[in-house]
Amino acid sequence: MAKILVTGGLGYIGSHTVVELVAAGYEPVIVDDLSNSNIKILDQLSKIIGFKPAFHQFDLCDMEKLEKFVAAEPGIEGIIHFAAFKAVGESVKNPLKYYHTNIASLVNLLKVYKDKPADFVFSSSCTVYGQPDILPVTEDAPVKPAQSPYGNTKQIAEEILKDAVVSGDVKKVIALRYFNPVGAHESALIGELPNGVPQNLVPFITQTAIGKREKITVFGNDYNTKDGSCIRDYIHVVDLAKAHVAALKLMANNDFKGYDVFNLGTGNGNTVLEIIAAFENTTGVKLNYEIGPRREGDVEKVWGDVTKSANVLKWTAKLGIDVMMASAWEWEKYLSQNPS
Ligand code: NAD
Ligand code: WQD
Repeated sequence: MAKILVTGGLGYIGSHTVVELVAAGYEPVIVDDLSNSNIKILDQLSKIIGFKPAFHQFDLCDMEKLEKFVAAEPGIEGIIHFAAFKAVGESVKNPLKYYHTNIASLVNLLKVYKDKPADFVFSSSCTVYGQPDILPVTEDAPVKPAQSPYGNTKQIAEEILKDAVVSGDVKKVIALRYFNPVGAHESALIGELPNGVPQNLVPFITQTAIGKREKITVFGNDYNTKDGSCIRDYIHVVDLAKAHVAALKLMANNDFKGYDVFNLGTGNGNTVLEIIAAFENTTGVKLNYEIGPRREGDVEKVWGDVTKSANVLKWTAKLGIDVMMASAWEWEKYLSQNPS
């Protein structure tokens, strides 16, 4: 059983990936400092996979603790690096927090595993494309100037990883550019834990539906799209998690060399109003929403070309919008019945 380090493994995407790693026969070792998670997630995760996975709580920016961890957990064959801060708005207000955590954690990991043969999977984002000139956007589309310090950390991280492959500090790297991850595990035991008022669409929808928020505002209906609201490529978090297993398998192949990057989306775009309608139809819950002004910094429309992921990574998303909405709703209901 190959031992895989999952940084941020108690977070939203990391926890779902731990489930898929175990299902595929890997042994996950989780590092998380709980800065954006809760220790309860470890128990929930254990219920799904049937055992308690190895877990180490510390901040990856702390080199001393990281070195101790590496000594205590020898034989790591792969690293999936999720740990990072991800709130776009907060990153504008507090850029140094983002540059510090998102960059230092990556550089520290690369340093401590420099002479060890661990393949590396990195969580990047479709945010690197900004507003693409051509849709669907392919991996070779130009990276546009970042709209936020958060987005910039993803661009810089991709550059760092490319440089580290050239220098030989790391042998094999796959950067995965996620589109918009939504939904939750079918058990409703793990899901997204938004910090404070959600910035993202689907948690805001489910919190409004459950009564935590009075109403949701649709940020603009005057865009150049079919109904005037923005278009995104929403992808179920379980599909996304499976792509990380596919990335490890691809790198285990002797033909894979160096650095590569893949889009992780469904290849389809949906408007905000379509997502709201899908939520209402799937759950039978009427949503209190209003049309408001545009949100600063939003791109009008983006969805991914997933041909390369299908052909090279041998991965495609399977779950549709209805499953995304239904599972997000089950998770919200679970949270309301089990307050932390
Ligand atoms: P998340 O906040 O739920 O998970 C991140 C986890 O990392 C948390 O559990 C947090 O406690 C932990 N963490 C943060 N800093 C740490 C540190 N210094 N040391 C140890 N642990 C630390 O976020 P997520 O949605 O699961 O995102 C995972 C990754 O995917 C991030 O890198 C994020 O930028 C990227 N990403 C997310 C989205 C999205 O919409 N969710 C989209 C594109 C890319
Ligand atoms: C989706 C759509 C909003 C909330 C962000 C990050 C990006 C990536 C994914 C990490 C947009 C609209 C939202 C609301 C709304 N994260 N909306 N009312 O903006 O595509 O991307 O998360 O890498 O970097 O920027 O996702 O979920 O915030 O918004 O109308 O209350 O929903 O305008 O069109 P976004 P989102």
